[in-house]
Amino acid sequence: MTSAALLELRSVTKSFRGGGLIAVDDVSLEVGSSETVGVVGPSGAGKSTVARLVAGLLTPDAGAIVFEGTDLATLGDAERRAVRRRLHLVFQDPYTSLAGHLRVADLVAEPLVIHGACDRATRTDLVAEALAAVQLAPARYLTRWPHELSGGERQRVALARALVLRPRLVIADEPTAMLDPRARAELLELMAELQARLATAYLFITHDLAVADHFCDRLVVMSRGAVVEEGPTESVVTRPRHPATAALVDAARRLQAAVPA
Ligand SMILES: Nc1ncnc2c1ncn2[C@@H]1O[C@H](COP(=O)(O)OP(=O)(O)OP(=O)(O)O)[C@@H](O)[C@H]1O
Ligand SMILES: [Mg+2]
Repeated sequence: MTSAALLELRSVTKSFRGGGLIAVDDVSLEVGSSETVGVVGPSGAGKSTVARLVAGLLTPDAGAIVFEGTDLATLGDAERRAVRRRLHLVFQDPYTSLAGHLRVADLVAEPLVIHGACDRATRTDLVAEALAAVQLAPARYLTRWPHELSGGERQRVALARALVLRPRLVIADEPTAMLDPRARAELLELMAELQARLATAYLFITHDLAVADHFCDRLVVMSRGAVVEEGPTESVVTRPRHPATAALVDAARRLQAAVPA
């Protein structure tokens, strides 16, 4: 079967503990080229499991994950590595997701090294370019260690790592959850800018509907492993149909009311 979507999940199921816990239950969703699709839902809904499945860190028990028209399960090792260059995962926690023993230059170069993407001189250029793209001046940041960076700066390094291979798809699992409001707004703005420049698609995972509302073209709402609602962001947010969505909308409103403007 061919598909125009960049990424397609077809009835994907994943369970843990010998099948005792179904974390992802018959989930189908699509992400188009340069589209931003938000996966939202309460804690434990299965969002991160979806991210890990798409990134190839987990394999589905049933169903198919189709990227650029190819079922990932049918790929051999070399082809799988080639696909890994084209989709990249950014994690939630900027304090554990960057290896502490590498300087910024090596952290950003690492994906290029792993994929043997280019020679040393080109690599140096691409690393500097990626850092500049996330607004970290190479002269100031190349030799820093992760512990010398703020949370927002760490997430920008993680984004530079994701973008240095110019992937078609970036899977971002709660990338702003640990950031303060200002660093959060900056990271989202940067992600939007880079998308406009590089035509990257985002699968953007969050439990925060205000963030999703601001950032996503379309939303997929998960609850207890299943997709319970999906649609254009505006209609999902303004006219939630499922109680799980309504609860997220309420939580976002309460939070907004609690924060002074
Ligand atoms: N490796 C694992 N082994 C066993 N159970 C797991 C594993 N990973 C996830 N789970 C379980 O699967 C369910 C879904 O977890 P998941 O991390 O996908 O939720 P989530 O929607 O990302 O939640 P949160 O918003 O808290 O990050 C949870 O019940 C979780 O305990
Ligand atoms: Mg999660």
